[in-house]
Amino acid sequence: MKLRRILLGAALSACALTHAQDYTLTVQTAKPGAPVQPTTYGIFFEDINFAADGGLYAELVKNRSFEFTPDHLMGWQAFGKVEVRNDGPFDRNPHYVRLSSAGHGDWWTGLVNEGFFGIGVEKDKEYRFSVYARVPEGKPQVLRVQLIEPYTNEEAQDFAQATIKVDSKDWHKFVITLKSPRTTDKARLRMFLCDENGRSGSGVMDVEHVSLFPVDTWMGHENGMRKDLAQALADMKPGVFRFPGGCIVEGVTLDNRYQWKNTVGPVENRPLNKNRWEATFTHRYYPDYFQSYGLGFYEFFLLSEEIGAEPLPVLNVGMACQYQNWNNEKAHAPATAEGLKPYIDDCIDLIEFANGAADTKWGKVRAEMGHPEPFNMKFLGIGNEQWGEFYFERVKIVADAVRKAHPEIKIIGTSGPNSEGHDFDIGWEAMKRQKADLVDEHFYRPISWFKNEWERYDRYDRTGPKVFAGEYACHDRGKKWNHAGASIYEAAFITGIERNADIVHMATYAPLFSHVDGWQWRPDMIWYDNLRCALSASYYVQAMFAQNRGTNVLPIRNSNFPKKGEDGVLASAVWDKESGEVIVKVANTCDQAKSVKICLEGVKGAGEAKAILLDLSDYDLENTVDNPNAIAPKETTQPTTAGKNSSVIDVQIPAKTFAVYKVKK
Ligand code: AHR
Repeated sequence: MKLRRILLGAALSACALTHAQDYTLTVQTAKPGAPVQPTTYGIFFEDINFAADGGLYAELVKNRSFEFTPDHLMGWQAFGKVEVRNDGPFDRNPHYVRLSSAGHGDWWTGLVNEGFFGIGVEKDKEYRFSVYARVPEGKPQVLRVQLIEPYTNEEAQDFAQATIKVDSKDWHKFVITLKSPRTTDKARLRMFLCDENGRSGSGVMDVEHVSLFPVDTWMGHENGMRKDLAQALADMKPGVFRFPGGCIVEGVTLDNRYQWKNTVGPVENRPLNKNRWEATFTHRYYPDYFQSYGLGFYEFFLLSEEIGAEPLPVLNVGMACQYQNWNNEKAHAPATAEGLKPYIDDCIDLIEFANGAADTKWGKVRAEMGHPEPFNMKFLGIGNEQWGEFYFERVKIVADAVRKAHPEIKIIGTSGPNSEGHDFDIGWEAMKRQKADLVDEHFYRPISWFKNEWERYDRYDRTGPKVFAGEYACHDRGKKWNHAGASIYEAAFITGIERNADIVHMATYAPLFSHVDGWQWRPDMIWYDNLRCALSASYYVQAMFAQNRGTNVLPIRNSNFPKKGEDGVLASAVWDKESGEVIVKVANTCDQAKSVKICLEGVKGAGEAKAILLDLSDYDLENTVDNPNAIAPKETTQPTTAGKNSSVIDVQIPAKTFAVYKVKK
C-alpha cells in the first residue's frame, strides 16, 4: 500500500489528468513481470448435484446395471413377471433382470426407466439404445423398446419405437437407434417382452446394462458427455482440470472413497459406488444418487486433453471425510508405510496409467481404451481438504513415496477447509516443511470476507509452495444462488490472483455443475435441466479471466486502491506476448459509476480498445435455464487518446461492473 501511495505522484505526472477521475490506473507495459501460468484459471469437477450421472455423463438410463441398493429396481417400474438375479456376465456388476411370461396373452412383462428426473430427448435427434440380452431357454423372444411420454392426453404415449430379436442362449450386446420426433425433457424408456409376432412374450429373456445415449455427444464419443455442458467447459478455455472432487475423493468411509481403478476399463464392469452426497444433507436427500463411473478417469483425462487443460487428479491419502469422522483415527488407514500402501500404489499406478508406455501394466489399460499416447500428467493432489496431524503424517508418507518414484510430478497438498485460522496456518506450515509444490486452499465466503481480502496474496511468502485456490465462491449471507451481487466480488478478488501470478498458479471455482432438480449445494457455476443449461454470472467472470489470461503480469500504479472492507475499483493487467495485446481487467464494486483513466505507459497510437463489459449491478439477478441470458458479457469498443508516451482509455465504468480492455501494443 505504502509503495502504491509513493508511486501515485509518478503516475499522475506520466499520465496527466484532463479532468477529475475517480481512479487512475497506470499500466507499465514496458515492464512485463511474472509469467501468468497457463494453469491459472481452471475448472474443478466433482460428482455433486448430479454432475456426472444425470449431468455431464450423457447416459440417460438410471440404474442401467440393476446394482442400486437396497432396491435393485430403483429407477425402474416393473410390470408382469420380473425377477432380479445376480449371476450375470459382468463379475463386478453381477445383477441383471429376468423377464418371463406374464401368464396370459393379455398381460405384459416389462420395465420402464424414469431416467434422471426424466429423460431429455430432442426432435430429429438420434438416440443409441443398447442392451445385453439372452434367452436362457433358447426360445426366441423380442424386446420392444419405446420412448414414451408417461403422462399425456395424446392418443399414444410412445413416440419412438424399435424391436430387437434375441435368439441366443448366450449373452450378446444389441444396439439400435431411435429417432425422436419431438423434444421433451420428461420422457421415459419402456421395454416390453414380446413373442416373435409382437404379442405378449411367452418365453424368458434376461437383460443387463440397459443404456440410452444421444448419438450426438461431445466429440462423438460413444460413452460420451453431454455436448452442451462439455462445450461450456471448453469455451471457458480452462488451463487446468481438477477431478474427481472434493469430498467424494474421501468418502463417508474409506470403503466409499473414490477409487480410480474402479473407473477404467469396459463401462459394463465398472462397479457401482454410492455417492457420498446422497446422504450429506437430509434436507436435500437423494436415495437414488450413485456413481456408475461411466464417467471415469480415462474420460476425465481425455476431456482435459480435448479442452486443452492440464489434468489434475486428486487421490485419497488414506483418510475418510474428517467432517463425518471427527477425531476418529480408526476411520482412516494406519499412518504407516504398510497401512498406506494401497494409497501409495494408487498414486504410482495412476502415473503409469496416465504417462506410462502402452506396454506397461496400467499404460496398457489406457492404450486398450483408445489412447496409446500418454496423457502427460504433471500434477497430483494428495488428499482433499484434510487438516491436522492425521493428515500431515499420512501425506508425508504417501508424498515421499510418490516423489521417490516420480520426482517429475508436482505434488499438491492442502491447507484444509478454512481460509485462515489455526488449522489453516499449521496446514500451510506443514506443507512448507514437507515441500509441497502447491497448496490447495478453499474458501466459500461472504462478500464481507472478499472485501477484507483484496490484498490476500500480496502478503504471501514468496519462498514456499505456490497457491492453488482450489475451491472458492462468494456467497452472500442468506443468498444461496448465483446472483450477480456476489459475482462482482469474485471478479474483484481474482484481479488480486492475477496481480500475484508469481505465487498463485491455479484457481478453480466450486462446485462446477448442478442439476436444477437434484442439487445438494449451491451456488454452482453451471446449471442445467435435462435439455438446457445456464451459465452463471460466476462462469462469465472466470471465463473473462481465462479467455484473456495473457502471458505476463504488468505492474499497475493505482491512484486509489480500496482499503480492507471498502468497495472500490480493483484492477490487474497482463501482456500477451503471443497476440501482442495489453489486457486490463477492472472491477468496480461500488454502487456508483466511477470514472477511470487507464494510462498504458509506453503504448503509442493504440487506436480503439476492445472492451468486454459484464453488468453485475442487479444484485439478485441470476441466469436460469428459463432465462439463461439475463447476465452476459457485452463487447464494444472504446477510443483511446494519445498521452505522453502512452495511450489513454478514459472510461466511466458503471456501478458493479467487470470490464476487460484490450489493445495491441
Ligand atoms: O465443493 C463442495 C465441497 O466443498 C467439496 O467437496 C469439498 O472439498 C468442500 O468442502
